[in-house]
Amino acid sequence: MPYDPTSQSNIDELKTNHIHLDLTVDFSAKTLTGSAELELEAVADNVSKVVLDTSYIDVRSVSSNGRALQFSLAKRHEKYGSALTVALETTLSKGTKTKVTVEYATTQDCTACQWLEPSQTVGKKHPYLFTQCQAIHARSLLPCQDSPSIKLTYSAKITTPLRAVMSAVPTGEDKHAAGDKTTFKFEQKQRIPSYLIALAVGNLEKREIGPRSAVWTEPEVLEAAAWEFVDTENFIRTGEALLTPYDWGRYDLLVLPASFPYGGMENPCLTFVTPSLLAGDRSLVDVVAHEIAHSWMGNLVTTENWEHFWLNEGFTVFVERKILGRMRGKEHSEFSAILGKKALQESVDLYGQDHPFTALRPCLRGEDPDDSFSRVPYEKGFNLLYYLEKHLGGAEVFEPYLRAHVQEFAGRSINTDDWKAFLYSFMEKNFGQEKVDLLNKVDWEAWLAGTGMPPVDNKFDDTLAKACTCLCKKWDDSRHTIPPTGFSTEDIKDFSSTQKVVFLEKVSELNPLPHGHLDTMDKLYELTNVRNSEIRLRWHLLCLKADYEKIYPEVVAFASSMGRMKMCRPLLRSLYKAKNGAELARETFIKHRSFFHPIAAAMIAKDLGLSK
Ligand code: BES
Ligand code: ZN
Repeated sequence: MPYDPTSQSNIDELKTNHIHLDLTVDFSAKTLTGSAELELEAVADNVSKVVLDTSYIDVRSVSSNGRALQFSLAKRHEKYGSALTVALETTLSKGTKTKVTVEYATTQDCTACQWLEPSQTVGKKHPYLFTQCQAIHARSLLPCQDSPSIKLTYSAKITTPLRAVMSAVPTGEDKHAAGDKTTFKFEQKQRIPSYLIALAVGNLEKREIGPRSAVWTEPEVLEAAAWEFVDTENFIRTGEALLTPYDWGRYDLLVLPASFPYGGMENPCLTFVTPSLLAGDRSLVDVVAHEIAHSWMGNLVTTENWEHFWLNEGFTVFVERKILGRMRGKEHSEFSAILGKKALQESVDLYGQDHPFTALRPCLRGEDPDDSFSRVPYEKGFNLLYYLEKHLGGAEVFEPYLRAHVQEFAGRSINTDDWKAFLYSFMEKNFGQEKVDLLNKVDWEAWLAGTGMPPVDNKFDDTLAKACTCLCKKWDDSRHTIPPTGFSTEDIKDFSSTQKVVFLEKVSELNPLPHGHLDTMDKLYELTNVRNSEIRLRWHLLCLKADYEKIYPEVVAFASSMGRMKMCRPLLRSLYKAKNGAELARETFIKHRSFFHPIAAAMIAKDLGLSK
């Protein structure tokens, strides 16, 4: 039986096989109204009720084949929402199927939806709606069994005045006679968990960028987006060479408005990405490699619940770096691992090294998965797989295993025990007792349950990091020479944007440099005016750590126009901690609260001590 501490649904009694959504988008009321029809199947005997997850959903009626059903909506659980209990007409025995239709509307409080005013879009003329369901926000888009242990197909009819796109394949559109609305139809034929249901509506256009890929976005940025993501097909092919054929038909990208709270979201057939990837130099497309890697790790093989989130993200980072390594060379993927380890250290420091959320497999009973989100599942998970690969004899042994893992578990939801059992059985069957002996030497308890940094400190090729460390040391050594001498624009001329990021991160680790040094660094390396959002972020953080007040207006402008949490959260947190910055940070957030996505706004409010 699947277990999921963050869902209130009776997943031990029923599973959902298919959902059909029929929704109308109302931009003036900021609601979605219509119905969700769930095709359910009993997985136990004597099932007399369906319990669905909902959060801030206005349930109007429930029926089955046209006959009304009794239902009740429980008092809200602070983190998990209101359980909707529906009484079935007849008691079901294992294997029996039934259909339940819920007529409902979303409300202003639904955390899955962000409704943007025209002013919050690039074109400034049309409103925009997008959803973000991972981890447990699908329940505020539709009543459902909101657990990744349940995998279903879905279809949808979305009626709207602007174009709708979904994490599915479009199957047609009907323009209404009145001319102001169109009904867009979609179908997702692969079984997916509820958190991968996604919708966006806005003034969207598309441009083909590969044999099975197009980029969707507002017309104003279409050209730039198509240019940035030309490597998409190469990423997919490299993933296919490593694992199994790409099985989702289309792989399209949607570039969202700036308030999108993540770098990317692996919505099947249509990855959502932040516009902060449009650096103009194709330097930030690793995020696309990451989301493509999810096509296998997460979307085909899915975590059973959010306690095993590392099975999605750790595996995806591992595959992402394999793809990068094959396309650009080993130094690049190892460099990315070095950056990852640094980010892991920051997460561990932020929580504290004994904090339960620094464990690879945390306990989430009673917890909100958004609070446990950090680099830990990504990078500790990656480090475990990286270590296992080396320990077991390298890529020759491990890559066939990775492929077998996908073949074994495709279409299913698994937990860490399932993963480990298959790893053992694969190694035994294909390589014999010798590998089993090696596996028995792994300190599983420390890796899976231990808190803090990983028990094994992997060493990565630091070829690309050396130049960054070297330049950083030069600045450190110059701290008593005022003004600093011996620096020039040439210093970073040959640096990749990632090397610039690493250089700035290294300088951040030093005791703050004198402000005059920061003036010089800015002038020579043109940091304040840099377009690349990752470099800009590190520059701002470095300045904030040095209480360099000149940067504050820049930080305010960046943090209030960049909804990607990876960027706005550390910026506002650092501003809050910087000299004379606390009030400014709070004011900035309060003034721009409606710009931020509901998930981001909730997290920032906690970061700045404005809520619990
Ligand atoms: N699936 C995640 C985003 C996510 C995780 C959303 C948890 C909600 C809850 C996505 O694949 C991701 O990991 N995005 C990263 C980019 C990546 C390159 C590490 C991000 O948004 O920064
Ligand atoms: Zn991911």
